[in-house]
Amino acid sequence: MRIAVIPGDGIGTEVVPAGLEALDATAARFGLTLEFAEFSFASAGYWQRHGTMLPPDWEETLRGFDAIYFGAVGWPDVVPDHVSLWGSLLQFRRTFDQYVNLRPCRLMPGVRSPLAGREPGDIDFVVIRENTEGEYSSVGGRIFEGTDRETVLQETIMTRVGVDRVLRYAFELAARREAGHLTSATKSNGISISMPYWDERVAAMKDNFPGVRVDKFHIDALAAQFVLHPEWFDVVVASNLFGDILSDLGPACTGTLGIAPSANINPTRASPSLFEPVHGSAPDIAGQGIANPVGQIWCGSLMLDHLGHPEAAAHLLGAIEDVLAFGPRDAPLTPDLHGTGTTAELGHAIAERVRER
Ligand code: NAD
Ligand code: IPM
Ligand code: MN
Repeated sequence: MRIAVIPGDGIGTEVVPAGLEALDATAARFGLTLEFAEFSFASAGYWQRHGTMLPPDWEETLRGFDAIYFGAVGWPDVVPDHVSLWGSLLQFRRTFDQYVNLRPCRLMPGVRSPLAGREPGDIDFVVIRENTEGEYSSVGGRIFEGTDRETVLQETIMTRVGVDRVLRYAFELAARREAGHLTSATKSNGISISMPYWDERVAAMKDNFPGVRVDKFHIDALAAQFVLHPEWFDVVVASNLFGDILSDLGPACTGTLGIAPSANINPTRASPSLFEPVHGSAPDIAGQGIANPVGQIWCGSLMLDHLGHPEAAAHLLGAIEDVLAFGPRDAPLTPDLHGTGTTAELGHAIAERVRER
């Protein structure tokens, strides 16, 4: 399997080596061949050298790989975020039609939730985020600039194909899971055109999945219920922006943003899928070697699963769980997990566990 590796910026460059170490250990254990090719584009450094985020042939280059293993991009002191993100990650998602963004949220053994009384196992849900349209559209603009009629518009786009395909994926996932429960994030009380349409498509899709229990919450109330009753949720399907917000809130409820992985999937396999932690480049802690590498390492497990190696994927995830379960006194957990370990130390510990478990 040929994997394109893009570390990106900030802590992306710190957690990716830990992720590769764990992937190498897993590949060795299962007799898999993973070939990594690293690229320096999609970073602020590349921008400084070239004035663009990507080389002209990026699409054909990346198409040649089975998957993309990505760190994080964004360094607002050097390049504005909308420029760096629209010039890289958001292009990848669209060009490769990675229309599902799958983001698991699980309270892991050994990890303390900021929510009182929650134990490992209590929180275990998946956010399925629409990943190519919705509120993230480039349709719009400014008119009457500089006058007191200055007006800014940005359209939300929902297509029938775009909404139905992500809903179908979420329903199929819910149908396979034990709880068989799907929650839809809406806001059809206030956003009166796109969100009633979303609700309508959910209602239509539901008829194909009689075994799935379906409910819906307005996004504001849903945010509150994530904190009050995270155990209610199993599969949560949301538009692009709502899913973005929920997929930071969910991991916060499970202890730290640093453990959360994501899979940007093209389920048709017509182009490569991309695996990246939910978090960004974290300029506030970058360069200190203390970023939590678990989100990045867990991405390796999602990637192996996607590439057709579920046993290797489960083994790697098991190694993460084992090391977290040792707790901050017996494992080099990073400061966000109340430990004093470094990125590299936690990465080594997980790779070691992959070899010995
Ligand atoms: P962020 O996710 O980078 O950081 C938010 C907070 O979480 C920070 O306090 C950070 O220290 C902490 N954090 C994040 N990851 C951590 C980890 N692995 N271990 C410990 N703590 C961790 O979000 P932000 O500050 O809003 O964004 C910073 C930059 O990253 C911006 O340029 C933004 O656009 C970009 N960004 C990129 C991606 C991506 O590449 N997918 C995702 C989100 C943000
Ligand atoms: C994410 C990030 C991106 C998004 C940003 C950096 C554009 O927050 O992957 O969740 O909003 O999709
Ligand atoms: Mn986000």
